[in-house]
Amino acid sequence: MARGPFGYHGRMKGIIVAAGYGTRFLPVTKTVPKELLPVGTKPSIAYIVEEFIASGISDIVIISSRRKKSLEDYFDREVELEEIFRREGRADKLAAIAPPEARIFFVRQTEMRGTGHALLQARAFVGGDPCVVAYPDDLHIGARPLALQLIEAHERTGKSVMATIHEAGDVSRYGVVDPGPDGVSVAGFVEKPARGKEPSHEVSIGRYLYTSEFFDLLEEGWKAHTGGEYFHTYALDRLIAKGKVAFARVEGERLDTGDPAGYLEAILRDAAANPSLRPVLERFARGLLGGGRS
Ligand code: G1P
Repeated sequence: MARGPFGYHGRMKGIIVAAGYGTRFLPVTKTVPKELLPVGTKPSIAYIVEEFIASGISDIVIISSRRKKSLEDYFDREVELEEIFRREGRADKLAAIAPPEARIFFVRQTEMRGTGHALLQARAFVGGDPCVVAYPDDLHIGARPLALQLIEAHERTGKSVMATIHEAGDVSRYGVVDPGPDGVSVAGFVEKPARGKEPSHEVSIGRYLYTSEFFDLLEEGWKAHTGGEYFHTYALDRLIAKGKVAFARVEGERLDTGDPAGYLEAILRDAAANPSLRPVLERFARGLLGGGRS
């Protein structure tokens, strides 16, 4: 585990922002939180919790909201089932229902007032510690867990860190980093630039490591905020202006489950890697889609 000069000794915390309505998945999200939509047999949020744990993060807060009680149930134990599976000697099933080896906390955002407002709900939880923030739509597949890559970049720089990838094509749907001359610092950041106005092709994938100063700035801005939504970019922009943000181009593959097309891709990818499901995919590709007949 990373242990560098900036005081990370397992103090790193994790935040998952899961308060949103999930309108792109209506009507199912009227009652099922989009974070519980399964990729394989596991809800998508479980992949992020696993990534945090694999990165050495064991205190995780989930920012939730009304109608999302089932998220809390998901991370609870199932004692009766455990008893049955133990009696039956079903180690596989026991493992499947075991809660994650982390302390999971919940706070609620009582009204949808933007990402900055959502993160402020976790302020007390964070205290003076740094934390990794994930949005549940972004899943990561790769040999090295994404949060760990951010922690290592923080250890090298002492700064808050934005996870980025290089996107050769159109970047207008992303937040785009203006890299500083050292190739590590973020000199500027433009959210969803018009085509041709992008400062680079280094795009944010919506995964961040924030030092506690980020939350100080966020709180400060909130006091002066007069209405409408309040975004995390308020504090991020100010930290960037102070030269306190670095970017880390991350390794691995990113799955965006935020809309039905990306979600389908995640499911197909998972099925392709599963020996018991792959034949179904192949049969489907051959038959229904007419693949291999040309
Ligand atoms: C968010 C961030 C943006 C980032 C993107 C990655 O935008 O604001 O900076 O590039 O996630 O998916 P959203 O996709 O929520 O509009």
